[in-house]
Amino acid sequence: MRFTSTDSTTRIRTVHQIRVFLRAWARDPMGVAAVLPSGRQLSQKMLKPLSLLPDTNPATQRVIELGAGTGAFTRALIDHGLHARNLLVVERDAALHGLLCQRFPGLQVIQADACALRTAAQASGYLQEGPADAVISGLGLLSMPRATQRSILTEAFAVLRPGGCFVQFTYGHASPVSRALRDDLGLHVRRAGLAWRNAPPASVFVYQRAFTAPHTCQAPDPTQ
Ligand SMILES: C[S@@+](CC[C@H](N)C(=O)[O-])C[C@H]1O[C@@H](n2cnc3c(N)ncnc32)[C@H](O)[C@@H]1O
Repeated sequence: MRFTSTDSTTRIRTVHQIRVFLRAWARDPMGVAAVLPSGRQLSQKMLKPLSLLPDTNPATQRVIELGAGTGAFTRALIDHGLHARNLLVVERDAALHGLLCQRFPGLQVIQADACALRTAAQASGYLQEGPADAVISGLGLLSMPRATQRSILTEAFAVLRPGGCFVQFTYGHASPVSRALRDDLGLHVRRAGLAWRNAPPASVFVYQRAFTAPHTCQAPDPTQ
């Protein structure tokens, strides 16, 4: 099999992205919480709940992505049809933030802590156009202390419109947010699917305010 120069350029870029990701993991294993970027199947499953939002038009949907890493979900969001001005990408690690800025020059990519999302989103100007319809989280929420989970979810729901949803993946079958914390924050959860081809396999969960009308942003039954 012959490889074209485009193949080899793509391969060099991918190797570079994985190298930057691994270095970030070595600096902060608990924060990065994964040794490989998410795969294509998981990226697709993370975006599925967007088709169940009240506004089903990708061109007008507003999304905030947390913990973008090398941009696996970012790429999928762009391919989904999201408009650059409606997407805010948040990454805490400086090197990964630099990589994202290089990879996606037209996007609003900010280096910020998801625990201070409200202030960061406000400062970026993103919220001037209105709240977000969905937060797509690539954070390793499961490995975070409960107090950190609480502040991230509180911040996320403060920038979401009523009926908006918080989409989170986890390596395992159970919700990474405990029932006690969900009850405290008034959230209900649905499992939105399983990316079994991902390394390692991952489940997707959708969180919403419990008082949200039940037809909005409902995740599909993963057994269907
Ligand atoms: C599990 S990796 C996922 C990366 C990417 N979304 C993917 O799925 O391949 C978690 C990412 O969240 C970032 N992160 C961890 N804690 C964060 C925080 N408090 N605020 C923003 N980003 C954070 C890490 O630097 C890392 O890039």
